[in-house]
Amino acid sequence: MGRVEGKVALVTGAASGIGLSAATLMAQEGAKVVLADLNEAAAQQAAARIREAGGQAQATTLNATERASVQAAVDFTAETFGGLNIMVNNVGGNRPDTDLDTLHITDEAWDFALLLNATATLYGCQAALPHLLAAGGGSIVNTASMAHRGGDLVRIGYTAGKAAVVAMTRSMAAQYGKQGVRCNSVSPGLVLTPAAEQHLPQAFKDMWSGYNAVPDVGRPDDIGYTILFLASDEARHITGQNIEVDGGHFVSQPTNPAMRVMYQQMAQQAQQE
Ligand SMILES: NC(=O)c1ccc[n+]([C@@H]2O[C@H](COP(=O)([O-])OP(=O)(O)OC[C@H]3O[C@@H](n4cnc5c(N)ncnc54)[C@H](O)[C@@H]3O)[C@@H](O)[C@H]2O)c1
Repeated sequence: MGRVEGKVALVTGAASGIGLSAATLMAQEGAKVVLADLNEAAAQQAAARIREAGGQAQATTLNATERASVQAAVDFTAETFGGLNIMVNNVGGNRPDTDLDTLHITDEAWDFALLLNATATLYGCQAALPHLLAAGGGSIVNTASMAHRGGDLVRIGYTAGKAAVVAMTRSMAAQYGKQGVRCNSVSPGLVLTPAAEQHLPQAFKDMWSGYNAVPDVGRPDDIGYTILFLASDEARHITGQNIEVDGGHFVSQPTNPAMRVMYQQMAQQAQQE
């Protein structure tokens, strides 16, 4: 018996990275999964790989920023698998070149960040909720980001968009909890998706992991397993929460990396004396 056996799940942005991990893990645990993505060819390939491994999966095209497209993906899921129990609103991002600091972000970058993160999540929830309510309940999991928490030097639009996702998650949990719908978000820290693995300089990865409490930076499955848990009935008493999966990036004193160096220097000095 899988952890989400027999449930029907829709994952947005499922052709790559975190969404792909969540879709694959839920299929491994018995869910019937629809992978929805702007890159439909990649979503189809991913669904085929899941089927080859013995899971149940289909793919569909999606532009998460268009209400009609989101509705079509939800309709496709309900028609293909006979309902919907789990909605994972995972699409998000920004325009890195123009989503800058407060004085320099362009209006287009601001609008796009709110559209791709907050509004896309709203569209996903609006389309999914009638099915979840008709089924007597279900689970919504939204991908937020630790960017919503720490003050960032750039990405003012992205931070606002992800903060909106966390806030909406709490309100939706309050609004539909009595009808059996749980709604939670996951906030990843830096996650080495294939694109990040390829493009981020090693010096950046080393700098980042130096501030983590654990040795490594995150991998897609670190987030995928959290989404799987929140989607499953194991999390039946958890709603309105934002789970931070960041390797302890924010739990330490901010001065800890510098303190570590100081303690090492003090120890060396003591040995010499
Ligand atoms: N990777 C990280 O370090 C990190 C950290 C914090 C939060 N996140 C969040 O995790 C989520 C997934 O990111 P990822 O790193 O796995 O990205 P990714 O680039 O590996 O995958 C994103 C997928 O979304 C699809 N997509 C993009 N725009 C779309 C749209 N409008 N409609 C439908 N599909 C669309 C892409 O085609 C791609 O397949 C995002 O919300 C992101 O903000 C990522």
